[in-house]
Amino acid sequence: MGCRVEYHESLASTNDRARELADAGEPEGAAVLAGEQTHGRGREGRPWHSAPGLGVYLSVVLRPSVPGERVPLVTLMAALGAATGLRQASGVDVRIKWPNDLVVEAAGDTRRKLGGILTEGRAGNDGVRDVVVGIGVNVNHAPEDFPEDLRGRAGSLRMARGRHVDRGGVVLALLGGLDRWYRAWREGGDDAVVTAYRALAVDLEGRAVRVSVPSGSWTGVTVGLDSGGALLVRPDGDGVPGAPAARVRFGEIERVEEA
Ligand code: BTN
Repeated sequence: MGCRVEYHESLASTNDRARELADAGEPEGAAVLAGEQTHGRGREGRPWHSAPGLGVYLSVVLRPSVPGERVPLVTLMAALGAATGLRQASGVDVRIKWPNDLVVEAAGDTRRKLGGILTEGRAGNDGVRDVVVGIGVNVNHAPEDFPEDLRGRAGSLRMARGRHVDRGGVVLALLGGLDRWYRAWREGGDDAVVTAYRALAVDLEGRAVRVSVPSGSWTGVTVGLDSGGALLVRPDGDGVPGAPAARVRFGEIERVEEA
């Protein structure tokens, strides 16, 4: 990972530039880094706040030889690689909220999101052609550096650790973590990733949640993560004993108060 790293002071989105590199035939592991993004994006078309000099905005080109239905595992693998790298580099207890949020539990049951993964895959004739993995991490933000609407739930490594964090070290830790878990996935298969992911994830079991998918939203209680990386949620009002839980493969999950 990072066999070649291209740095830009400012880019619209590192994912867009990485896509160009993939199209130009750059090898797997090529990476793009930006000091700021003017149109950084998150999942579901949301903007990703990408202030200059405070965060890490990184994208990497991957070319896994897998069928399209296994691309969601790339998101889990990348979240695991990023979380383990950040834990090692900063000492912060970084956790994963399914599927792609990097979070830290703060005082008073407040959870703060300090990073996220945006995976954009493209199909070829025979499975996946390439996947761009974009990672955004809030590193040295103070609360007032976030837009007001994010202030209550966004956090940074600096806020969690109480002192400045070296962004160069964070980049190396992310590339190292990604490298380790991409290899582990290729050599050990989905099981290796899913097992380690479960150990770092929050809310996988016994948590009342709202699941939002394009067709609507519903509430239920989480009961685990299956071997393919889908979140298992038992819908509320599902009174049939032994009825299988729903397999949630994509969508937004938010905590709700227990009924
Ligand atoms: C999310 O949590 O919704 C995912 C956020 C991903 C943000 C990163 S920053 C680097 C890369 N470039 C982008 O435009 N987005 C990703």
